[in-house]
Amino acid sequence: MGKSRKGILTIVHKEEIAEGIIRVELVGELVKEMDEPGQFIHIRPGMGIDPFLRRPISICDVNLEENKLTIIFRVEGKGTQLLAETPVGTEVDVLGPLGQGFPIHHRQSGDHALLVGGGVGVPPLLYLAKKLVRQGVKVTSIIGFGEKNQVFLEDELAFLGTVYVTTIDGSYGYQGLVTDLFPQVKKWNVLYSCGPIPMLKAIQHLFKEEEKEGYLSLEQRMGCGVGACLACVCQVNSSEKKYKKICSDGPVFALEEVAL
Ligand SMILES: Cc1cc2nc3c(=O)[nH]c(=O)nc-3n(C[C@H](O)[C@H](O)[C@H](O)COP(=O)(O)OP(=O)(O)OC[C@H]3O[C@@H](n4cnc5c(N)ncnc54)[C@H](O)[C@@H]3O)c2cc1C
Ligand code: FES
Repeated sequence: MGKSRKGILTIVHKEEIAEGIIRVELVGELVKEMDEPGQFIHIRPGMGIDPFLRRPISICDVNLEENKLTIIFRVEGKGTQLLAETPVGTEVDVLGPLGQGFPIHHRQSGDHALLVGGGVGVPPLLYLAKKLVRQGVKVTSIIGFGEKNQVFLEDELAFLGTVYVTTIDGSYGYQGLVTDLFPQVKKWNVLYSCGPIPMLKAIQHLFKEEEKEGYLSLEQRMGCGVGACLACVCQVNSSEKKYKKICSDGPVFALEEVAL
């Protein structure tokens, strides 16, 4: 479980940044540990017994000087609805940082990273982009959404590199899928991606014949979040081990590692 631990964070800001998409800033000592992009927190939505389970949400951005964490989530069901309704000033119970994030330590100045995000897979790419740029890595992002009113984080990512936006219905940016734009980005040497399984599967398929360095972050329903309950297993393409736990072995895996 590494250096992950439990703590109380206080909500200091909350706003709806796109349709049904909520951005929340939290402050607390626990944030000091959150220096690896791609990790997540496991947050208790409310202090009552319903819902009983925590909800996993990616670390979107961190300000280590101010001990401030940003998360961005879509209101899906009971847990995220409750979180969205929690007033500024409330203390929330958080476990984290959890999981293995995106490997970036071996990246060098002059590398070119392609970041690909779909929907609520986009948030972890912001902290990743910031870290990469600080290491001298050129960053190009392709982010995809259903329609114009669901688009978020375009400006923040544009501050760090080139950004392409796609929408399925063509109401903003390019009409189509994120993968349609891959030919536009030349000479990247590492790919980092987070989004829905069909998107990650398409990416895996595109590069199955090529030896491209890439990493995929998977989302799965979780129980414990720390590797104890086996609620989050996924199949892997390896002979010695058939399954891995998304919460503790992931959520980030090498491009060819997981069987989607
Ligand atoms: C490592 C990780 C990081 C995540 N980061 C983010 C994030 O940054 N922003 C964000 O909006 N969401 C993120 N998610 C998804 C988020 O955890 C779910 O949307 C949330 O748990 C739903 O809880 P709920 O109580 O609102 O909905 P529920 O009532 O539990 O479910 C409502 C709907 O959401 C679906 N759902 C529930 N959990 C998941 C899940 N884990 N993945 C996909 N679909 C799910 C259900 O099938 C159902 O259709 C992440 C998930 C993981 C595993
Ligand atoms: S959520 Fe319990 S093992 Fe992953």
